[in-house]
Amino acid sequence: MDLEQRLEELLGVEKFEPPEELRAEANWSDPGIYEEAAADPEAWWLAQAKELLDWDVEPSQSLDDSNPPFYKWFADGRLNASAQCLDRHVEAGNGDRVAFHWRGEEGEERDLTYADLHRDVQRFANALKDLGVEKGDVVGIYLPMIPEVVVAMLACARIGAPHNVVFGGFSAEAVAERMDFSEAKALITVDGARRKGKTAPIKPQVDEHMANHHALEKIVVVRHTGIECPMSEGRDVFYDEAMAAADPECPAEPMEAEHPLYILYTSGSTAKPKGILHTTGGYMTGVTATHRYVFDLKPDSDVYWCAADVGWVTGHSYIVYGPLSNGATSVMWEGAPDYPHKGIWWEVVERYKATILYAAPTAIRTFIKWGADIPAEHDLSSLRLLGSVGEPINPKAWLWYREVIGGGRCPIVDTWWQTETGGIMISPLPGLTATKPGSATVPFPGVEASVVDERDGEPIEEGQGLLVLERPWPSMLRGLYKEDDRFIETYFSRFGNERYLVGDAARRDSDGYFWVIGRIDDVVNVSGHRLSTAEVESAIVAHPDVAEAAVIGESDEDTGQAICAFVTLRGGKDESEELVEGIRGTVAERIGKFARPKRIVWADDLPKTRSGKIMRRLLRDIAEGRALGDVTTLRDPDVMKELESKIAEEQAQEG
Ligand code: WT7
Repeated sequence: MDLEQRLEELLGVEKFEPPEELRAEANWSDPGIYEEAAADPEAWWLAQAKELLDWDVEPSQSLDDSNPPFYKWFADGRLNASAQCLDRHVEAGNGDRVAFHWRGEEGEERDLTYADLHRDVQRFANALKDLGVEKGDVVGIYLPMIPEVVVAMLACARIGAPHNVVFGGFSAEAVAERMDFSEAKALITVDGARRKGKTAPIKPQVDEHMANHHALEKIVVVRHTGIECPMSEGRDVFYDEAMAAADPECPAEPMEAEHPLYILYTSGSTAKPKGILHTTGGYMTGVTATHRYVFDLKPDSDVYWCAADVGWVTGHSYIVYGPLSNGATSVMWEGAPDYPHKGIWWEVVERYKATILYAAPTAIRTFIKWGADIPAEHDLSSLRLLGSVGEPINPKAWLWYREVIGGGRCPIVDTWWQTETGGIMISPLPGLTATKPGSATVPFPGVEASVVDERDGEPIEEGQGLLVLERPWPSMLRGLYKEDDRFIETYFSRFGNERYLVGDAARRDSDGYFWVIGRIDDVVNVSGHRLSTAEVESAIVAHPDVAEAAVIGESDEDTGQAICAFVTLRGGKDESEELVEGIRGTVAERIGKFARPKRIVWADDLPKTRSGKIMRRLLRDIAEGRALGDVTTLRDPDVMKELESKIAEEQAQEG
């Protein structure tokens, strides 16, 4: 039977039961776990915290809800996140275990053991101290997927300096802004980055934007590409030189459970990104538990590969903190999926005999387009479990992933969560939960989710509404960095302090399974990269020829959503291909290449209400070719007619 036929046939299967073999050996296979956790979630989480982590001071408290929505977990406990990830494994005699099989773009290989990381992290922690970094100081990290990024993160954790990692795809300008918002004292970056055989300067670009950033005192530069970079006397230092000069020993300092571990900026409804704040004890409990149970991790035998970038929360929780806390052996990979060839992922799986693969639906859709014969050239029989994250996965892609990559034998865990939740919230447990293609299934034990009516917040047993989380959980964000009001306003103003508003719409089916539909706010998900429409708009209007812009996310076969911008030009400026490229360039400079609009629609005017608010809902309707919603509140309804004929014209041209 050919693949298409097989997939068609599987579309008729409602549920996939856990494979018997996996169930028999699974880390959790007793369904009683859900009831046990639900009966007393706080006691259950406290038991998890004690079982999964080695505390310097064991907590006696679980949740502290005396000041909602500013919740605390395990507050009287003490521990150090880097010691959880390294020291305890070395002390247990597992120093020789490989933590990362690192693989560079050009095929370079470097194995880093737990002992290697332990050694490097201690040295770099001392190097940071030598540079004047103290407990509580924020340290920026802007690095590609190289081992030093893990060393940098854990060295910060070791001395209690919260890190602020910025994804390498962001522009230097976006980095500068995030350094300013977080008042970062130091930044760790790289001379240059590699992408598909080309190298691009990073440090020189950082320099261009850092001149006016007063809080930033030091820049550490990792030599990676050998690109020449000017160093500023007294401010800049090379990583290798700082390491060589530092003391080798740096005992881990026990931190209060609520000591900030990191800030990670993510997009919200306004142009200003939100600094999501995570702390130590609850976060480590959450990521260790979910990584162990959702991926059924067996540290002695599994080779785990999370193909995300450390610059996003998936990388923080499921490349760095979760896997290292569990003593896993992982693959860490620098490259792009089509370099040097379109089968590189499968070559990597085969080479390291990966047993668990965690990837984004957008990648899977790309592989589908490239064809099943590419993975077929490689031996993927080591795989036993597949994960999906970042956006809804359509059933067809889910089934292709299962059949073509998983050989029909690997269960798929579709994991729903967010930067804010710190760890996985809704997901199957592979030994317990029957899966349905396209559904993230049910909340993790100790997590309670509902779908509620947007009007009155009443829970909906079966049907569609807003997704909420009904009680605090250990790995939840503790706030937005220095923006308490925005924290309350964004997540807890609609339904009160006890209920966390997710920002996604979801549906529940008759089995109580959750089907996450997508964002309800002005957040767009492009290839699993989260962007706010306001952020992109403010970048576009920075172009000197642009008068006004409205950005929407439109459905896209490859990237899930794509950025579509409606742009009005200043008087006397003409629409041109050159201008399109100019605008895309401005966005690349201000945010990053991944935020560039895919489509720009020239508009003489934008649809606005009488009070001047742009009605993006109408723009979404015409972009997606839907019948227009209510236009009576528009100041000038003719604007829509003109835009409609513009789009029709465009489509006619495309044929
Ligand atoms: C948003 C969070 C989760 C870490 C990476 C993204 C969407 C995420 C799923 C999924 C459907 C998903 C949601 C969520 N999302 N995972 N399995 N099914 N949607 O983290 O950048 O904070 O984005 O991604 O819309 O709210 P993020």
